[in-house]
Amino acid sequence: MVSLAIRRSRGMSGDVKIPGDKSISHRSIMLGALAQGTTTVSNFLTSDDCLHTAQCFRQLGIAIEQEATTVTVKGRGLRGLSEPGTVLDVGNSGTTMRLLAGILAGQPFYSVMTGDASIRRRPMGRVAKPLRAMGASVFGRDGGQLAPLTIMGGGLRAIQYETEVASAQVKSAILLAGLFADGWTEVREPLQSRNHTELMLQGLGAEVEVSERVVRVHGGPALRSGQWEVPGDISSAAFLLVAGLIVPNSRLRLLDVGLNPTRTGIIDVLQTMGGSIRVENERVSAGEPIGDLVVESSKLRGCVVEGDLIPRLIDEIPVLAVAACFASGTTTIQDAAELKVKESNRIAATATELTKLGANVTELPDGLEVRGGHRLHGTACESHGDHRMALALAIAGLGADGTTTVAHAEAVNVSFPGFAEAMVGLGGEVEILCG
Ligand code: S3P
Repeated sequence: MVSLAIRRSRGMSGDVKIPGDKSISHRSIMLGALAQGTTTVSNFLTSDDCLHTAQCFRQLGIAIEQEATTVTVKGRGLRGLSEPGTVLDVGNSGTTMRLLAGILAGQPFYSVMTGDASIRRRPMGRVAKPLRAMGASVFGRDGGQLAPLTIMGGGLRAIQYETEVASAQVKSAILLAGLFADGWTEVREPLQSRNHTELMLQGLGAEVEVSERVVRVHGGPALRSGQWEVPGDISSAAFLLVAGLIVPNSRLRLLDVGLNPTRTGIIDVLQTMGGSIRVENERVSAGEPIGDLVVESSKLRGCVVEGDLIPRLIDEIPVLAVAACFASGTTTIQDAAELKVKESNRIAATATELTKLGANVTELPDGLEVRGGHRLHGTACESHGDHRMALALAIAGLGADGTTTVAHAEAVNVSFPGFAEAMVGLGGEVEILCG
């Protein structure tokens, strides 16, 4: 087992390049595989999750090479995947399992997907149901709710589907299956979720129509191959934003961060809380807005986070709760019941672990209430096997008295390989303990 030991920091400073966006890295392999010809991806996130996606596509007959953070994918066109010889292992990755389910639903062959204990607890009925409506046979434990999932696809019909939750993974699974159906497949969602799939499909020449909560894709496109430069992951940058705000005497510059408006809720909320965050050097790269973020230590105040903000910062809520511990007043996060079915139950895990550190946190049925201003004291915390919990607790440790340890911290490699080294480079005292 790997643990992190974090000591209270008196100041952090410097520039840091943020690792590639996880959502876009997954999609660059998937869409590269379905395009005709070679796709080159730079600043690819070489994390456990994205490497599992690459491995699954190798098993589907796609040649993929990786050198440092550059990946080349030899696409074989929409009909070029071949039946895998064995079970596809997605590891911890919900994005891999759900988006790949959409692609496999379009294949006239048999495949089975499984993954680790966490992914085998997460709800898969939300993708099985629409994919069955399109004509695929999808089986899983508990009536198709749980992995392992078995899919026999092909012969899909286009559907119009309204999702129950705002989920980019569900939306993307249906859109990707829609590539293999005749005519227009349409997805309507209750609130807009991240839109990388539709932006990337448009960039590759697919017919895609988008309005705020409705996306339509036409089946049978010839997808172009090409080059992607993956922006830095704002979900990873969020940990450093909160570090920069809560550690006194700090000034950090986070380079080349993706600023897609469907993802920037965390910046909006931290600014509302009084955080000094400036966007510099704004530009567009591979169809996505990017920029550098300059963050300085700030006095924070609590606020209410709810409604359509939630999908725009869904992965950042554990670290937002950490920021709230260092704010004056109360922060209320609601409408976020989805947190219960992430890599861990993040409502319960955040409340349990921050309480161990001395924070005043209450679980709500659909969120958290954090009463700020209680001094945190370093102690032994647990990641619950969840990368974002491990990372959020490490940031809390920078602001807590003494030393904080985070057990099962190998989970950080799911989305932020090199986290401890990056923190040390900025002056944080973060040590990796093995055994
Ligand atoms: C993701 C969508 C979100 C997010 C996950 C990545 C994606 O999940 O939490 O980390 O890449 O599409 P949901 O779509 O289930 O909300």
